[in-house]
Amino acid sequence: MVIAFANNKGGTGKSTLTTVFLEILKGQGKKVLIIDCDSQCNLTTTFLPEDVENTLADTILNKEIVPYTVEDYDIVPSSPTLEIIQLQMSINEVDIDVLDKAIEPHKDNYDYILIDCPPSDGNLQQVAIYASDVCICPINSTVHAIEGALNVKSRINDFQKSIKFLPVRNNFDFREKFPKEVSQKCEEIFPEIAKTIIKRRVDFAEAMEYGVQGSTEINVVNDLIAEING
Ligand SMILES: Nc1ncnc2c1ncn2[C@@H]1O[C@H](COP(=O)(O)OP(=O)(O)OP(=O)(O)O)[C@@H](O)[C@H]1O
Ligand SMILES: [Mg+2]
Repeated sequence: MVIAFANNKGGTGKSTLTTVFLEILKGQGKKVLIIDCDSQCNLTTTFLPEDVENTLADTILNKEIVPYTVEDYDIVPSSPTLEIIQLQMSINEVDIDVLDKAIEPHKDNYDYILIDCPPSDGNLQQVAIYASDVCICPINSTVHAIEGALNVKSRINDFQKSIKFLPVRNNFDFREKFPKEVSQKCEEIFPEIAKTIIKRRVDFAEAMEYGVQGSTEINVVNDLIAEING
C-alpha cells in the first residue's frame, strides 16, 4: 500500500506522521520504504546523516527508484539542491505518473510505501499523491490547514485514479477553545474524516528530532492504520 502524507499548508504534521507511521509499521514487522518528496529534507536529515546518492531528483529524472537501505527499512532521500527546485518548476514536462511508474516494480518488496509531501500545491506534491493508494491529509487546528485539505481533496478528484482521501486531525489540544471549533468544522466539511484524532503530545513533537522508540503515546496511530485497512 502506498500512503502519501499531504497538505498544502505547512506544519500540519506530514513529516511527523510519516516518521511515526514508519516506527509503528516497523514494530508490526512490516517492510517499509519511505520517500522524501520535500526539498526541505526533514525526513532525509532525520534518517540519513550524510549526503546520499539516488535522491528523489534522480528518481524523477531517471524514472526509476534506487532505494537506500537503513537498518530495517529503505528510503529514497530528498536533496536540498537547486536541482530539485528547478525540477519543481519544470516538471510540467514530466508525466504525472512518473513516481507511480517508478514505484510499481518495487511494490512487491514492501508492505507499505510512505511518501512525505512538500507543503505546496506544486508538481512534486501532485506526482506524490498520484502515486498513492491512500492520501493522509493531516489537519492541525488552523483554518488554513482546512483550506489546504480542501485543495488536496479537489486535486484527488481531478485525477483519473482511485485514491482514498483521509483527512486526519493532528496536533489538537482540546484544552484550547479554537481546536474544538476547528474539529467540528472538519467533521462538517469532510464526511470522510478519520475518527482517530491525534492530540498534541510530546512524543510526536520530538519524533523527528529524537525518535520515538519506547513511546506509548504513538500507539494512537495503530487506530488510524486500522481505519485505513478497515
Ligand atoms: N501530534 C503532535 N503533537 C505535538 N507536536 C506535533 C504533532 N504533530 C506535529 N507536531 C509538531 O508540529 C510541527 C510541524 O510538524 P511537521 O514538521 O511534521 O509538519 P509538516 O507538515 O511536515 O511541515 P512542512 O509543511 O514544513 O513540511 C513540528 O514541530 C512537530 O514536532
Ligand atoms: Mg514536512
